[in-house]
Amino acid sequence: MRIILLGPPGAGKGTQAEFICDQLKIPRISTGDMLRAEIAANTPVGQSVKSMMEKGLLVPEQLVIDMLNKRIILPDCAKGYLLDGFPRTLHQAEVLDKAGIAFDAVIEIQVPDNEIINRLSGRRMHPSSGRTYHVTSNPPKSRDKDDITQEPLVQREDDKEESVRKRLEIYHQQTEPMIEWYKRHSHKYHYASILGTGHIEEIHHQLMDLIQGTKVR
Ligand code: AP5
Repeated sequence: MRIILLGPPGAGKGTQAEFICDQLKIPRISTGDMLRAEIAANTPVGQSVKSMMEKGLLVPEQLVIDMLNKRIILPDCAKGYLLDGFPRTLHQAEVLDKAGIAFDAVIEIQVPDNEIINRLSGRRMHPSSGRTYHVTSNPPKSRDKDDITQEPLVQREDDKEESVRKRLEIYHQQTEPMIEWYKRHSHKYHYASILGTGHIEEIHHQLMDLIQGTKVR
């Protein structure tokens, strides 16, 4: 299956993507995680995007498009994949559209801005896997440690309030028009939306119902 998960920063895309991908046995392709890996490895790409990401700005589109094109041709994508964080502009959606890739579901997770600011201030992340937790709503089993590796969790630089506000502004300006485009092409793309507030498990069940109901390949 091929799935696109859309939603504002902190909507729960990464959290839900992990469950969905475990269940469907497909890889999660997170452009944010890929960029953070470049930063952690101090590559030229990482050096060029670090300050943009910390400020909450989008990185240059061609760079992300090239990164994605190289990723989706790897063997583990043969049976499908879930895109988390791509596309996020109309141009990126059009690039995917022109590539002629069929998607089984394009699902938007909606969460109000005030809840997002609260969520992101409590988010903690395991840098090498991208696994995410929240200090109160989704805490790790041991404080500040990843459940699987026991390695330390960190707070993302772009989860500072100023960066979160910038990311939300960009989302409203650049990503929402793209979502409108998917709505207008909802038959071709099997667009659906759900409210991302409430229990994580309940949202997961709703997402799986949607995904299983839209399977086209
Ligand atoms: P990216 O990493 O994609 O960040 P994002 O889209 O802003 O999304 P987040 O990872 O912040 O949130 P999420 O929806 O995954 O939420 P999560 O599950 O963690 O991108 C980062 C940056 O990379 C961009 O700003 C840009 O610079 C660059 N970039 C990436 N892709 C790009 C592209 N295509 N083009 C250009 N630039 C690009 O959940 C958040 C928190 O809430 C967690 O703590 C979680 O435990 C908690 N939570 C989850 N669900 C619930 C719930 N139901 N109730 C309560 N708490 C919950």
